[in-house]
Amino acid sequence: MRDSEQQFSKWTIGLHWLVGITFIALLITGVVMKEAGIYALYPIHKSVGILLVLVALARVFWRSRNGWPKPVGNSGPGMRLVAHLVHWMLLIGTLLMPISGMMMSGAGGHGLPIFGWQLLAMNPDPANPGEVIPLNATVAEWGHILHELAGYMLIAVVVLHVAGALKHHWIDKDRTLTRMLGR
Ligand code: HEM
Ligand code: HEM
Repeated sequence: MRDSEQQFSKWTIGLHWLVGITFIALLITGVVMKEAGIYALYPIHKSVGILLVLVALARVFWRSRNGWPKPVGNSGPGMRLVAHLVHWMLLIGTLLMPISGMMMSGAGGHGLPIFGWQLLAMNPDPANPGEVIPLNATVAEWGHILHELAGYMLIAVVVLHVAGALKHHWIDKDRTLTRMLGR
C-alpha cells in the first residue's frame, strides 16, 4: 500500500508518529539529563535511542521505496523547497543522532545498554574504580561533537517543521496535517 495524493499509507503515518514523538522525547531528555545532571535518565535515553535506529532505518527504507509525498497545500516553490529540505534533515537526523550517540558511548567505553541487557559491555578501568577506558577516544570525541551539534540544530529544525504543519492547518486551512493524521 503506497501513499497517494489523497491519502497516506498506514506505514507512512505509523512510522512518522512513532519516530517523531520518540525523537522529540529523546531531544528533551537529552538536554534535561545533561543540563540537570540526572544520571538515572542516561540508560533510558540510550536504550530508547538504540532501539529507535531500527525503526528509523525501516522508515528511510519505506521512504526510498515510496518516494516523497506530493504537497497538498498552496505553498509557493520557495516554501516547498524549505519544507523538502527540512524533511531531508529530519530523516538524516533520525539516523545521525542514534549513530553519533552510539559512537560516543560505545567507543567511549561506557557500553551500549538496552534496558539492562548490554549490546556492548562497559570497559572499566581497573586502576580507577568507577571510571572507564575508551575503546577509541577519537571516535568517541567525534560522536560527542556530532551528537551535541546535530542535537541542538535538530531542535530548531523540529520547531520549524511543527510550526509549518500548524501554519498549514490553522492559517492555510489545507489537508497537510489531517492527511498525516490519517483523516
Ligand atoms: C534519536 C536518538 C537520539 C536523540 C534525538 C538524542 C538527543 C540528545 C540530545 C539533544 C542531547 C543533549 C546534547 C548535549 O547537550 O550534549 C543528548 C545527550 C546525550 N545522548 Fe543522546 N540522543 C539520541 C540517541 C542517543 C543514543 C543512542 C545514545 C547512546 C547509546 C545517546 C547518548 C547520549 C549521551 C551519553 C548524552 C549526554 C552527553 C553528555 O553528557 O555530554 N543518545 N542526546
Ligand atoms: C508534533 C510534531 C510533528 C508534527 C505536527 C508533524 C507533522 C507533519 C506533517 C503534517 C507532515 C506532512 C507534510 C507534507 O505532507 O508535506 C510531516 C512530514 C514529515 N515529518 Fe513530521 N511532524 C512532527 C514531528 C516530526 C519529527 C520529530 C520528525 C523527525 C524526526 C518528523 C519528520 C517528518 C518527515 C521526514 C516528513 C516527510 C514525510 C515522511 O517521511 O513521512 N516529523 N510531518
